[in-house]
Amino acid sequence: MRADIVVLPGDGIGPEVTAAAVRVLETIATSFGHEFRFARHRIGGDAIDATGEPLPDETLAACRDADAILLGAVGGPKWSTSEPRPEQGLLALRKSLDLYANLRPVRPEPVALDAAPIKPHLLAGVDLLVVRELTGGLYFGERQRDADGASDLCRYSVAEIERVVRRAAQLAQRRHRRLVSVDKANVLETSRLWREVTTRLVRDEFPGVQLEHQLVDSMAMHLIARPREYDVIVTENLFGDILTDEASVLAGSMGLLPSASLGEDRRGLYEPIHGSAPDIAGRDIANPCGAILSGAMLLRHTLGLPEEAELIEAAVSDALANGAMTADLAAPGRAIGCSAMADAVVDSLRHRLTDCPVVAELRD
Ligand code: IPM
Ligand code: MN
Repeated sequence: MRADIVVLPGDGIGPEVTAAAVRVLETIATSFGHEFRFARHRIGGDAIDATGEPLPDETLAACRDADAILLGAVGGPKWSTSEPRPEQGLLALRKSLDLYANLRPVRPEPVALDAAPIKPHLLAGVDLLVVRELTGGLYFGERQRDADGASDLCRYSVAEIERVVRRAAQLAQRRHRRLVSVDKANVLETSRLWREVTTRLVRDEFPGVQLEHQLVDSMAMHLIARPREYDVIVTENLFGDILTDEASVLAGSMGLLPSASLGEDRRGLYEPIHGSAPDIAGRDIANPCGAILSGAMLLRHTLGLPEEAELIEAAVSDALANGAMTADLAAPGRAIGCSAMADAVVDSLRHRLTDCPVVAELRD
């Protein structure tokens, strides 16, 4: 397998965590005889500093030509009042490539349960997937500001709702066939449309999928109170942004969570859901697991390499289970750094690879 992968390190801890993810992907490439070509480009504040633009044309062109994109993070206090802002680079990239379905899986690692502020018995067995609509709604509506106020327009077309709900229902079909659609249909017109379209689409196209509607405020409560009950959750852009930060608490650390942003074809943008964490940037203490696991999602969703993806996921679990943990998870005085965490994952991966029949065949 040959693949061109654009790496967008971005700001804050982005460069450290993407470097870790690239090391892990390179280990996979060498072992399985794949050829992954990595090309680094600028985005966010880093790109603003170099070119004045958060998404330079040259970066967008490289992303359009690539098979997949691996991104670190964008933003930071340095650019908090700048115009354009770093975040606009990421939003423009998602929109330009029409990456409308953002997959954010949450499966707490057993060893991370101690780090979660929620009772462990509520977390055991949690395995949920949030599908967040990523190219519509309030994020992309017209914005206005005048002397005495401001407004942001929220609009969803039927087609925009259909395509993301269809993707979520397809994913639910391959999991436990339970789909919860989250809206605010007791107040918002866009949510009433969302509910109607979702009800019809799931009834007509996915009779085997059990659909439930939840209002976003009560969903925020249930997600923490009974997270084990959920399989796939689909929702609009802003609600998905908020609920996935909340869901990350279930995993013990936001630093563990990956994401995939997908469109109609196989190309995708892969990024950890944590932000740029400027307070810890450049100190080699960030958790690279979210970025490494985003690399695994890249192998699964864009390159069609599920076995390699599972090996990376297992290697991350092994490393954590063996006590390798960054400061967000470790007991006081036991933390290792970002690059040491990457070493631990690569070591665990090598162990797993020794027992892997496909790799053994390639070796012999
Ligand atoms: C995320 C982030 C972004 C978002 C920001 C950086 C624009 O919070 O990916 O969740 O709000 O979508
Ligand atoms: Mn967010």
